[in-house]
Amino acid sequence: MFGLQKATQLTPADDQATTLRWLAQQYAYPPLPSSPPCLPRPFVRANMVGSIDGAVTVDGRSGGLGGPGDKAVFRVLRALADVVVVGASTAVTEGYRQPSADDEFTADRTARDQTPAPALALLSRSLSIPDDFAPVAQPQTLVLTCASAPADRRSALTDIGATLIDCGDDTVDPHAVLDVCAERGWVRVLTEGGPSLLGSLAQADALDELCVTTAPVVVGGDAGRIVSHRDALPTRPMRPVSIITDDDGYVFTRWARTPTEDTYGHRTDTD
Ligand SMILES: NC(=O)c1ccc[n+]([C@@H]2O[C@H](COP(=O)([O-])OP(=O)(O)OC[C@H]3O[C@@H](n4cnc5c(N)ncnc54)[C@H](OP(=O)(O)O)[C@@H]3O)[C@@H](O)[C@H]2O)c1
Repeated sequence: MFGLQKATQLTPADDQATTLRWLAQQYAYPPLPSSPPCLPRPFVRANMVGSIDGAVTVDGRSGGLGGPGDKAVFRVLRALADVVVVGASTAVTEGYRQPSADDEFTADRTARDQTPAPALALLSRSLSIPDDFAPVAQPQTLVLTCASAPADRRSALTDIGATLIDCGDDTVDPHAVLDVCAERGWVRVLTEGGPSLLGSLAQADALDELCVTTAPVVVGGDAGRIVSHRDALPTRPMRPVSIITDDDGYVFTRWARTPTEDTYGHRTDTD
């Protein structure tokens, strides 16, 4: 006989702050290693939203799938993270701004020795990021690229103040990205996609946790799935950590890799 469990229903508390704090407890990252003989490998969490039929966009953007509960989870996951890692095309398409400090979580971040807001890391091989895309010029933003990126784009972005770091020769290597994060002490990594970036991370077996919001709609069309890769990926078993629903019908699932690795992996300097 298999066991069944009911999903946790999230009914908004009288005040939004209580709901946000409850979510922050549910989604807390694993505790940092207490004795660091070597660099901790960052813990990589992804957060995506899709429709019941698996679409990640409506009219080319994810916004059409969102709701108040989804926005609350998005907000809480950022408040917990050291860095938001995102594909440049998603950042531009979705009109990203530099993550800002969230008053609700200032004290928690201070207690965890985190900066007031997470840093932003944009991935791009081509560096085809518009010169007027505001976050690139911010000191808290890194543009993670590769050696083969076009020289003219490289100088155009550095001229406007961007910080570029090569993470590979012909492509942006996810492991090199995580090395850059580890060197900066960014061990609580949150990636907000998009699907191609998640495909690269999944292929590198670098996804520790997948938070997936299912919006209560069927949209059809030809929108992609939350993970996109030209090749079939190695099957990576995952287990559900939590399943939460809200009054609007959204379902928030959180999946962790198996076998259970609830702590940060360790990596020696010579690995
Ligand atoms: N439903 C959701 O939760 C959700 C979340 C995020 C995005 N989206 C949607 O997804 C769409 C964008 O998805 P996408 O798959 O085209 O873009 P994407 O995943 O954002 O990834 C592609 C971007 O990442 C860069 N990149 C650099 N290195 C990479 C690597 N090793 N692997 C993969 N990408 C790398 C690419 O740069 P170069 O082009 O310079 O090579 C490109 O800018 C948008 O419509 C967006 O609205 C939905």
